[in-house]
Amino acid sequence: MPLMGPREMFAAAYAGRYAVGAFNVNNMEIVQGIMSAAVQEKSPVILQVSAGARKYAGQTYIMKLVEAALAEDDSVPVAVHLDHGPSFEMCRDCIDGGFTSVMIDGSHLSYEENIALTKQVVDYAHERNVWVEAELGKLAGVEEHVSSAEHVYTDPDQAVEFVERTGCDSLAIAIGTSHGAYKFKGEAKLDFPRLETISNKLPGYPLVLHGASSVPQEFVELCNTYGGQVGGARGIPEDMLRQAAGLGVCKINVDTDIRLALTASIRQYLTEHPEQFDPRSYLSPAREAVKKMVAHKIRNVMGSSGKA
Ligand code: G3H
Ligand code: 13P
Ligand code: ZN
Repeated sequence: MPLMGPREMFAAAYAGRYAVGAFNVNNMEIVQGIMSAAVQEKSPVILQVSAGARKYAGQTYIMKLVEAALAEDDSVPVAVHLDHGPSFEMCRDCIDGGFTSVMIDGSHLSYEENIALTKQVVDYAHERNVWVEAELGKLAGVEEHVSSAEHVYTDPDQAVEFVERTGCDSLAIAIGTSHGAYKFKGEAKLDFPRLETISNKLPGYPLVLHGASSVPQEFVELCNTYGGQVGGARGIPEDMLRQAAGLGVCKINVDTDIRLALTASIRQYLTEHPEQFDPRSYLSPAREAVKKMVAHKIRNVMGSSGKA
């Protein structure tokens, strides 16, 4: 299967009430870990690249890593997506560079400015058969270029108008998730009535959930046992994510949990093998830890195993 856009993946996910996992990639070990999990689970997968990842690894390097993964095994559907594209220019460069999907994140702009920017990207992308995700509402916390102290939940009527006026193909919504490891101080809570209203007003339309890591406590503890200081981190319970997948959420974004798995593994390895300094010695188990984490997500959170 060649690299593809997410249209068919999302149509099947919507109908089957499961989600496709969108996992952030930053280097070779992460690409390999995610791809081997997707192949093992026979699941569609989205590899997403943030502006920060693009700056760290370089757009060409990441595309070539993805191409290499497909050259080794192309048995599952794979999309390459720009995560939180901050500008028209970056979306254009990714589209021109072979990405099959881009996100334009105008969530920090005024409603009308967000519409204008999203529409500009949609016009360019659709002429080239590339999928566009947009965002309406604000997630609390810090994103690469967007920082908000408070959640601004997505207004359901505005969501309908936004989709109509921009022509965006999928929409990221704010219902209480946030980026990073510190999502809740007290009890975890998502606004499911709001999600259901949005979903009912946009029947058949794929919604996207950002900030959807669960921050498994065993990985936080593993980090901390081996010298880390990851205190008070709390994520989205897995049953809430499965519930969202049954309410029109077709794409669930996970980055933090991959970071935790990778870092916990490296911390443990280096503590237990202080004499080691060959990067391959600690990056091999770290890559395996990414694979295990992603396979768990695919099977138990997305529900997309066997859907390739
Ligand atoms: O939405 C944020 C993702 O976790 C990407 O994070 O901008 O640090 O690469 P990043
Ligand atoms: P987490 O920080 O919860 O993993 O969210 C990642 C994300 O939304 C990437 O766009
Ligand atoms: Zn995000």
